Amino acid sequence: MTSVMTAALELRGVSAGYGRVAVLHDIDLAVPPYGVLALLGSNGAGKSTLLRVASGRTSPSSGQVLLRGTDVTGRSPERLSRTGLCSVPEGRAVFPNLTVTENLRMWTYRPGVSRKAVEEQAFARFPRLKERRKQLAGRLSGGEQQMLAMTRALTAEPDVLLLDEISMGLAPVVAAELFGLVRQIADDGTPVLLVEQFARTALEIADSVAVMAQGHIRVTGTPEEVRDQVLETYLHTDAQPTRLEN
Ligand SMILES: Nc1ncnc2c1ncn2[C@@H]1O[C@H](COP(=O)(O)OP(=O)(O)O)[C@@H](O)[C@H]1O
Ligand SMILES: [Mg+2]
Repeated sequence: MTSVMTAALELRGVSAGYGRVAVLHDIDLAVPPYGVLALLGSNGAGKSTLLRVASGRTSPSSGQVLLRGTDVTGRSPERLSRTGLCSVPEGRAVFPNLTVTENLRMWTYRPGVSRKAVEEQAFARFPRLKERRKQLAGRLSGGEQQMLAMTRALTAEPDVLLLDEISMGLAPVVAAELFGLVRQIADDGTPVLLVEQFARTALEIADSVAVMAQGHIRVTGTPEEVRDQVLETYLHTDAQPTRLEN
């Protein structure tokens, strides 16, 4: 069944690195057209590099990137975001000295889309942002800043949404709330590639899981299939919050 559906995003035999340092080794990964694929792995495993390649910010040394079956290897991030791929990179991608509303306005450059429509969509999805609309983005909580960053990505109505460690630095309860919103985004029809170190919560909302270590995909499957292996092999179960380990 899965094999006849074109992946929203696919990496085929991708290797990449920085200068002479090889980071990704022959990566095959397909983001299904529906749902959440969680990409887990410890710090330094190569998750962000994989997202950089997928979003056109780093060129692979070999292999291909396909967006809905079309080879987009080597396309610029700007062109990719226009063709349907949006990513929220690590760290909070908002303008701290602009208000929530001003941040939203900065992103409404799409032809044929009104500011008002963008605001209404954003506030309907994230009511918290409506309450805070006159506040400077830099004064929002970490979770609210991530909501704003996700709103920007969703404004482009992407075919696939890439999220890099949106839970970074957040309390587990706030991370869980954000993951709930991610689940909702996927249920509304946008497939999500969710990169995370918070394995436990990510497993709860994911439809499929891939685990990376040292630039390789080590494990793939449904959360049920991989859960025990992931938690035993890749987790420090005594750490709070629970994080993946090498
Ligand atoms: N800009 C860079 N220049 C050189 N090496 C980098 C750069 N970014 C990341 N790396 C290296 O690539 C490896 C993978 O990093 P990264 O993709 O950020 O992993 P993760 O997101 O899983 O923590 C690490 O060894 C890291 O030091
Ligand atoms: Mg990273």
